[in-house]
Amino acid sequence: MRKTIRRSVLLFAFAVDTVRAVNNGLARTPPLGWNNWNSLGCDVSAELLLDTASRLVSLGLMDVGYKYTVLDDCWSDGRDDNGRIKVDLKRFPDGMSSVSARIHDHGLLFGMYSSAGHMTCARGEGSLDHEVADAQSFAEFSIDYLKYDNCYSKGRAGSASETFARYETMAEALNKTGRPIVYSLCNWGEDFVMSWGVSIANSWRISGDIYDSFSRPDDRCSCTENDPSSPWCVSPGAHCSVLTILNKIAPYADRGQPGGWQDLDALEVGLGGMTDDEYIAHFSLWAALKSPLLIGADLRTLSPEALAILNNPAVLAISQDVLGVPATRVERNTDVPKDRYGVGETHIWSGPLSGGDQVLIFLNAANTDLEMVAYLEDVFVGQGPSCSAPQCNQDWVVHDLWGSRMDDKVAKELLEKSKSREDAARILQAANHYNASSLPYKEGLEKLDIRLLGTKVDEISARGSLSIKVKRHSAKVFRLRPKLGITGKRYNHFKDEL
Ligand code: GAL
Repeated sequence: MRKTIRRSVLLFAFAVDTVRAVNNGLARTPPLGWNNWNSLGCDVSAELLLDTASRLVSLGLMDVGYKYTVLDDCWSDGRDDNGRIKVDLKRFPDGMSSVSARIHDHGLLFGMYSSAGHMTCARGEGSLDHEVADAQSFAEFSIDYLKYDNCYSKGRAGSASETFARYETMAEALNKTGRPIVYSLCNWGEDFVMSWGVSIANSWRISGDIYDSFSRPDDRCSCTENDPSSPWCVSPGAHCSVLTILNKIAPYADRGQPGGWQDLDALEVGLGGMTDDEYIAHFSLWAALKSPLLIGADLRTLSPEALAILNNPAVLAISQDVLGVPATRVERNTDVPKDRYGVGETHIWSGPLSGGDQVLIFLNAANTDLEMVAYLEDVFVGQGPSCSAPQCNQDWVVHDLWGSRMDDKVAKELLEKSKSREDAARILQAANHYNASSLPYKEGLEKLDIRLLGTKVDEISARGSLSIKVKRHSAKVFRLRPKLGITGKRYNHFKDEL
């Protein structure tokens, strides 16, 4: 039995290594950072970016892993006589290289945006047919990340090959600059990007734009009311709720891998349209599905509650797990009470983590509190049906990953008093908060750092199930850890704990 597991782990590792996403060696775990679009749209400036960068540092967010400061649309000002893209000097008076250098001075990384069209979505200058020159400009600005949108494609869309060609041209132009630049496709899940994105990019969006709603359906983000999960169902629009995006990705949630991730869009946490519970569910699922996690809130007005969600190291350790396997949905139940939009369903999502652990999420998107049950047989169906998987035949310890969420008082102190990395370190050390810059998640997990493992709440017996009450519009998020070895012996590295 042991041999079988080892062999499959080896085969898997081999597959991940050879089917490398884009050949640039970047984004081996999903990128973490910030993007202005969700909260600020076109209201961008050098001042905003620099202020945000220093807040990523002083709020302790950089030290739990949020490194990419990404400028979205609305920064350009046409082209010069040589065909080079011009920066809007009203918004960026010292030019983009200066912004980039100052972001890098913090130890952060800098991202920018363009479109595989003749214009960007906000009608700025697009890069279609200017890829080489624009990639050169991006390299001169010393960017580390490019989000590449899909507006105004001059009709060169509608089939996988046409769209692939547009995006591949920029991939090659970026690679030729010699600068390591994470390449993030934003073609809204169109033209089967889930089947080809991995060949040229580090991430690819799978839906139209997210909006700050947990479950409200909107025609602009679905093709037919009844089948929002179909990969053929795309909409270049917006207004995709958290639930709609989850339903869209469910059939192909497993396509992400180290180097190439499925992008569920930037986070809405902290924008104000969802409850605390809904934001926890949104954040946890984005982490477990291995989406890039780009904070979408304006850090100048962030609430303590939102900060305490975004900086949960136990959940970020799921996102940054080196195995890099996205959770998949193992159960969906639509036979539950509905809201006035006719929406109501529950999901169970699960996926493997390094060290033999497993993430397990109960999502209650029904219109009432519910008792939910997860059966090991379903959780490990991917490893073998009818409980034939070895994992189904062992006992598990259940850890709640929100059990030790940061106290709002600490978050408030950070927001009100911290002005530097040192201030943040002092406040966070006093609160015994995890610091991923001094102890990377991989090492923290190997050392069984309790701050990454969550709070022990229950156990599941071999071939058994976990039954739990889940409030309306919330999620319960667990790390399962093997209790006994398959042979009945304890795994060595859990010896101290069990
Ligand atoms: C959309 C894209 C958004 C944002 C916006 C900028 O197409 O999906 O994330 O980048 O364009 O105009």
